[in-house]
Amino acid sequence: MRRLDNCPAPAKLNLFLHVTGRRADGYHLLQTAFQLIDRCDYLDVEVREDGQICRTNDIEGVPADSDLIVRAARLLQTHTGCQLGANLTLRKHLPMGGGVGGGSSDAATTLLALNHLWETGLQREELMRLALQLGADVPFFLFGENAFAEGVGEELQALTTPDVWFVVLEPGVQVPTPAIFSAKELTRDTKPVRIADFPGDAKQTWKNDLQTVACALFPQVDAAIQWLSQYGDAKMTGSGSCVFCAFVEESAAEQVLKQVPDRWVSWKAKALSRHPMAQKLGSKNIWLEA
Ligand code: C5P
Repeated sequence: MRRLDNCPAPAKLNLFLHVTGRRADGYHLLQTAFQLIDRCDYLDVEVREDGQICRTNDIEGVPADSDLIVRAARLLQTHTGCQLGANLTLRKHLPMGGGVGGGSSDAATTLLALNHLWETGLQREELMRLALQLGADVPFFLFGENAFAEGVGEELQALTTPDVWFVVLEPGVQVPTPAIFSAKELTRDTKPVRIADFPGDAKQTWKNDLQTVACALFPQVDAAIQWLSQYGDAKMTGSGSCVFCAFVEESAAEQVLKQVPDRWVSWKAKALSRHPMAQKLGSKNIWLEA
């Protein structure tokens, strides 16, 4: 039987996020640093001969038909004319509406696993172009390594980032991304930065432009940032709600985790330099061929 079990869909953190403009279609131009971390959802994928795409398990708040993993599978099927189908079983660990890219990463892992199992043979660039139809963050998860992103998030360049540990707090609220981007208070004209200056330039403020708006709309996010700020430079990721702080030593991250009040779900995560599906797919992966 052709199947791949426990395919990792890693979370991302936005180490900074600047909004530099807005396109005519309403999407925002931005600059961000995407960091892969080792906290993951896990996907089991089994090939079906009858062409149907089914999600086999219930996920609260996400009807199977509109799930991005099902849409991703259908998109690849239509694009390639593949006659095969799939059963998809998704184990969620990443919060929804948390700004850690869970839904986008699940969709990307679906594309990676099915491109392999269906032997549709799409290369990295083509998969990334296809993925953009599913969401602005999805191409990053097919890029395969940490990245500096421009455009709406789809123009990617490899970025070397520090090998650190993160403490992540879930403030207990789901933030709707469109509400943050459409807020009239959002700063949309931040002066563009240069990738070469990241993260060494102390004069630059490597902040998340979406944070002020999210904190005003969701005080829970503000409270989590205030608390975590006692230990370092605490920031929100994406459009929220999760907030994070980096530590060089794992033991320092563990110490902070012990202090987190019960009202917040919290975890530590390690910075990754490569997408964990590279190992899963072995010698036949899109990143080796790129
Ligand atoms: O692309 P994705 O579906 O993740 O985006 C969700 C929403 O976030 C979009 O509909 C848009 O309102 C907003 N967005 C934006 N600019 C971006 C990314 C997202 O305005 N670069």
